[in-house]
Amino acid sequence: MAQEKAWENEYRKSKLLTKDNKPQSDVVRYVQYLIKQEKIDLENLNILDLGSGAGRNSFYFAEMGNNVIGLEISKTAIEIAKKYFNELMSRTVLDIKYVKQSIGEKFPIDDNSIDIVLDVTSSNSLTETEREVYLQETKRVLKPEGHFFVKALCKDGDDNAKHLLKDFPGVEKDTYKMPGLEVVERVWTKEDFVRTYEPYFNILKLEKKTSYPRMNNRSYKRNFWLAYLQNK
Ligand SMILES: C[S@@+](CC[C@H](N)C(=O)[O-])C[C@H]1O[C@@H](n2cnc3c(N)ncnc32)[C@H](O)[C@@H]1O
Repeated sequence: MAQEKAWENEYRKSKLLTKDNKPQSDVVRYVQYLIKQEKIDLENLNILDLGSGAGRNSFYFAEMGNNVIGLEISKTAIEIAKKYFNELMSRTVLDIKYVKQSIGEKFPIDDNSIDIVLDVTSSNSLTETEREVYLQETKRVLKPEGHFFVKALCKDGDDNAKHLLKDFPGVEKDTYKMPGLEVVERVWTKEDFVRTYEPYFNILKLEKKTSYPRMNNRSYKRNFWLAYLQNK
């Protein structure tokens, strides 16, 4: 509940978030990987966008002709996404359904029904208990050998993460509360990430990437994990 309020405030005041409609560049690269390496025909698939935000990645997959479901905790984020969706629908037909709910609760989705799941820096704020549900639910709804993309915050070699953990510690392991924002974030060592995801998914690729996200008109150097996973 606290995190729902924190994210809702973020979408209203927006210090941290992108509201643009272009897909995240790591998602674009992931799509290239799926097409070239996995030989996936990215059309008529069922896509689940966890923490779909203002919808940039769900639009991208829907425009390729896929059916997309976005689960999102912030009512305002869904309103922003739906507004753009309605604009797009005046030009083309897209299949996107947004559901307001936490990804730390049971998903309203059938077993083995999803081809690709996206988690683009959305599960960072889950508690350990919620994360267990998110992992089990993602596995349950994914088809056998279905694909799962995770972009998560990296602890290894990240000085900003180190400062945040020291100065603004959260209650649970490797979490901090973003100063002035109330949003909790979890950072991951490589070992910890592998230990958490590997019991559920095969790790096809795990890559560390440095980015410079902007907040309050400043850029911060942050490391991320880009994980290409597949249902076991
Ligand atoms: C950093 S934003 C990324 C949004 C989107 N994935 C993108 O790439 O544009 C994180 C998103 O996760 C959502 N979120 C955070 N905790 C959530 C939860 N427990 N359930 C559903 N959505 C959540 C936030 O509201 C926010 O939209």
